[in-house]
Amino acid sequence: MEDKIKVQAKNLTKRFGDLLVLDDISFDVKEGEFLCIVGPTGCGKTTFLNCLTKLFDITAGEILVDGNPIDCKKNNISYILQETSTMEWLTVEQNVRFGLDIKKVDKKLADERVAEMLEIVGLTKFKDYYPRQLSVSMIQRVVIARAFATYPELLLMDEPYGQLDIDLRFKLEDELVALWKKTGTTIIFITHNVEEAVYLGERIMVLTNKPTKVKHILPCELERPRDVTTKDFVDIRNEVTDLIKWW
Ligand SMILES: Nc1ncnc2c1ncn2[C@@H]1O[C@H](COP(=O)(O)OP(=O)(O)O)[C@@H](O)[C@H]1O
Ligand SMILES: [Mg+2]
Repeated sequence: MEDKIKVQAKNLTKRFGDLLVLDDISFDVKEGEFLCIVGPTGCGKTTFLNCLTKLFDITAGEILVDGNPIDCKKNNISYILQETSTMEWLTVEQNVRFGLDIKKVDKKLADERVAEMLEIVGLTKFKDYYPRQLSVSMIQRVVIARAFATYPELLLMDEPYGQLDIDLRFKLEDELVALWKKTGTTIIFITHNVEEAVYLGERIMVLTNKPTKVKHILPCELERPRDVTTKDFVDIRNEVTDLIKWW
């Protein structure tokens, strides 16, 4: 069966005044796929997500979701920005429930969803805590549980674990994969960390420096949970690193 296309960038160009950032970029994201995008700082990774979600106007070309321009009322999309955090004035449970309330999801279903999400990220016991009482990793878990709670059709993540210690990152990444498998959400995950991209992605897209083009898209079909020490893992990591050396 043909893979269904979830997101399609067609000849996407984005300029800020004279600065050409995204230069005639085209690629597809398959439904249910976990795509990692790797690119140098300032190449336009965040800009791409902002164009997709219509926070920025596109200079030329288009981005389609299920064949149409995105409609924020119709499409169910979660976007974890680079600086996304919790809402300090809400408990863990209320944070996770937030998107469900906005979408006016039936109370019984919302209760179930919140319980399910808290269980997967191991925060059930902490549901009545406030963010100030939590560690950094627990806060990241609340953010991810909140993002998945509505079972979004598309989840956009912009370097969410950039600042975290490596052991913690692996744990959060494993929980992210578990949530992805459970919900079937299409994920576009941005990182500048090659190991993270190979640990998570089904495909890895490498971008060039500005003006930015797609340098290469490579498949990454290693079994999960992935082991960063295996030869297959190291081979793909080296391949991506080589592509990056000539950014
Ligand atoms: N709102 C904006 N106005 C002007 N220039 C911008 C704006 N947002 C981003 N840029 C520029 O576009 C380029 C890409 O930025 P960004 O998408 O944040 O890069 P990345 O996320 O890959 O690090 C940078 O040169 C940045 O300065
Ligand atoms: Mg960015």
